[in-house]
Amino acid sequence: MNIHSSKRSLEILSNLLEERTGQTLSSERYWRIQTSLQSIMKEYNIPDIDSLVSEILSNMNRSLETDCLEAILNNESCFFRDQASFALLTGPVLDAIKANKEKEKNIRIWSSACSFGQESISLAIALSENSQKWSGWNIDILSTDVSNHAISRAKKGRYNHFEVQRGLPIGLLVKYFKQVDQDWQIDQKILDMIHYRNYNLVNNDIFVGKFDLILCRNMLMYLSEDNKIKAFQNIEKALYPNAYLMMGSAETIGEYSNKLEPCQDFRGFYKRNLM
Ligand SMILES: C[S@@+](CC[C@H](N)C(=O)[O-])C[C@H]1O[C@@H](n2cnc3c(N)ncnc32)[C@H](O)[C@@H]1O
Repeated sequence: MNIHSSKRSLEILSNLLEERTGQTLSSERYWRIQTSLQSIMKEYNIPDIDSLVSEILSNMNRSLETDCLEAILNNESCFFRDQASFALLTGPVLDAIKANKEKEKNIRIWSSACSFGQESISLAIALSENSQKWSGWNIDILSTDVSNHAISRAKKGRYNHFEVQRGLPIGLLVKYFKQVDQDWQIDQKILDMIHYRNYNLVNNDIFVGKFDLILCRNMLMYLSEDNKIKAFQNIEKALYPNAYLMMGSAETIGEYSNKLEPCQDFRGFYKRNLM
């Protein structure tokens, strides 16, 4: 820890993060704060973390607080993350949902902690790859994240060389992206399949509607116990009976929900029961 970042300052930032997003940082992971805030301190010309925290606490600079918390959040993601589970999702799981919705021909999907949008773009690409099968269907994809920075990046659909090399087969890169300067821009038709908005999954005040499938991957693990319960309440509320929840490959629902049951046929997926 450097001399100008007292434990107290790091605790204050960690508490603020939990208050706004539900994410907890144990003191062994405080190093993340130091690393993530380097470029913000440079941008705002603030010499060290103690001065930065004083400025936040003086309430003079609300955008500084938001920028700091968003920088500390972990946005790690990649295209077609957890390939085997993603193949299960875009194959048998979507087929099962399709079979249930033959009459309406209308499916709603929510990527609920979407980071920079790789998850929903992977889904939209997979649907486009099977366009004949989905012809005549209306598939609505909502993509949300607590971070405005993440949402504004997701809305742009522009990725750097490193990002498109992670998980995206070269054939799909060439087919669905075009190179713009050093970056890669997703096809507008794919981007138009997705709606984006800011949404805090541990805030129960706003209801985003009902869905046939919710993806909530790799964000629940750092929530405090209370916030995990709130997040699961939100997810349960937003799932139609018999609809599916997909979690990250290292995550389980544990004791947090009695309305969600592991799917026997699809490993890593949960089904909303009729309770
Ligand atoms: C590690 S990324 C996972 C992205 C993607 N779901 C995946 O698995 O690749 C976690 C995301 O959760 C978001 N997040 C953290 N707390 C959140 C909350 N309370 N509500 C909604 N999103 C949140 C972060 O901003 C970040 O973009």
